[in-house]
Amino acid sequence: MNNTFYVTTPIYYVNDKPHIGHAYTTILADVLARYHRSAEQDVFFLTGLDEHGQKVQQAAEKRGLSPQQHCDDLAPRFLELWERLNVQYDDFIRTTQERHVKMVQKVLQEVHAAGDIYEAEYAGWYSVAEERFITEIEMRSGQFRDVKQINEKNYFFRMGKYQQTLIDYIEKHPEYIQPAHRRNEILGFLRQPLGDLCISRPKARMNWGIELPFDRDYVTYVWFDALINYITVPGYGIDEKSFRKWWPASLHLIGKDILTTHAVYWSTMLFSLKLPLPKTIFAHGWWLTGENKMSKSLGNIVNPLDLIEKFGVDSVRYYLMREMILGQDANFTMESFAKRYNSDLANDFGNLLNRVSGLIGKYFSGKIPEPKEYRAEEKAIQAQAEKMVGSINEHIQALRVNEAIESTLQLIRVVNKYLEQQAPWKVAKSDLPTAGTILYTATEALRISTVHLFAVMPQKTRDVLKILGCEDLNLKWGLLKPGTQLPSHEALFPRIEDET
Ligand code: MSP
Repeated sequence: MNNTFYVTTPIYYVNDKPHIGHAYTTILADVLARYHRSAEQDVFFLTGLDEHGQKVQQAAEKRGLSPQQHCDDLAPRFLELWERLNVQYDDFIRTTQERHVKMVQKVLQEVHAAGDIYEAEYAGWYSVAEERFITEIEMRSGQFRDVKQINEKNYFFRMGKYQQTLIDYIEKHPEYIQPAHRRNEILGFLRQPLGDLCISRPKARMNWGIELPFDRDYVTYVWFDALINYITVPGYGIDEKSFRKWWPASLHLIGKDILTTHAVYWSTMLFSLKLPLPKTIFAHGWWLTGENKMSKSLGNIVNPLDLIEKFGVDSVRYYLMREMILGQDANFTMESFAKRYNSDLANDFGNLLNRVSGLIGKYFSGKIPEPKEYRAEEKAIQAQAEKMVGSINEHIQALRVNEAIESTLQLIRVVNKYLEQQAPWKVAKSDLPTAGTILYTATEALRISTVHLFAVMPQKTRDVLKILGCEDLNLKWGLLKPGTQLPSHEALFPRIEDET
């Protein structure tokens, strides 16, 4: 089995302030990376910034800065957010870095040498907002802002040449584009003739980009530049050992709006380079507010930093991971945030810790009791905890993070119910050893659930494990040590009282 896991996020446009949508994909990649690391896989997690193109150039001009100064000024916002969100990436690429500029030029040379780039005169409509040429029909739809008629010489990538190869590949590899409805969408798109891709911009019109190595009057189209980041970092043609280790990537995580560029542009670029395609491109849905996509232009952005400030980073990570079914859209509201937080984190998870530590404090002077003989009830709890390991693995492999979380929460709920039914506070009065067995079982199940949640909530789970005196992320039943003194602690997740 391949023991490496190389996961990427899109590289974000440096212009936008990072919002929940960006935070979501990056946290998702982080959660998956953490799970795979804990399964002792060799993990590489890449994220970064997309810094070229017209929009950056225009934004810089507006601020009276050079594009590079503008990027250098904005990049720290992302780094700060990833740090605050506890995102453990292995590399952070910026497309203005020399390693990337050189790589894009190397790729252009190779694709050119393979005969896949040609020069042609182009006359047509160009959308400045979308940074691409649009068709007559798109032009007439009126959906595009900032449209100009352009007549110029440009360089084109023979994308159309690979149309059938791509169709055959997608048909043979159902895991390549996920979820399945997105795969069908791309296959539908490929039923029409696939044109070639304009990959240059004349410097006279736009010069903030990577110069074409075979014509200094042109820079590279921003998407042709950006996609290459995924092979820049593992070192295509530069560091053979590393490249062989990490490429093909295991998983490109993207949002549904950038599926065509990945599934079609990137795949055909890789065909031209004769490189294997990534194993999976997964397109997730959008975070909406009401009916709308959260976006800067609509002014309905939820700022992740404000949420973290108020509710703590792990609650935000938890909500985003639990609430979105991967592949579908999800709605972000403060009501649903508070509801989810109160039910799962305050009532179920936080409450279980409070109960066991309170009861152990009261009846066992705060020391984890020794378990005696397990009865059917204890055996059932142990069995459920042990069974969960396999099912959580399956959920993670299939990218059902919300279900992995849900099955952990189910165990927590079962244990809370078990405590209510067994009432160790009553049992303790007549049969202290049995009360001890009940409390040991509940606490051990809590420990195992906590280990399962660590990838989602790295900080809070560490706090719990510390309280339980067992910081190892081991899922084996029975590792909790009787006699361990539990320290006093604050409520893990105080309830949110005002849900508005
Ligand atoms: N720079 C390109 C990606 C190049 S990858 C080689 C880009 N950047 S972006 O900043 O505009 O968007 C990055 C990602 O954020 C996309 O995957 C997009 O789907 C995602 N999101 C932007 N708004 C979103 C939501 N409201 N909800 C979820 N994700 C969304 O495109």
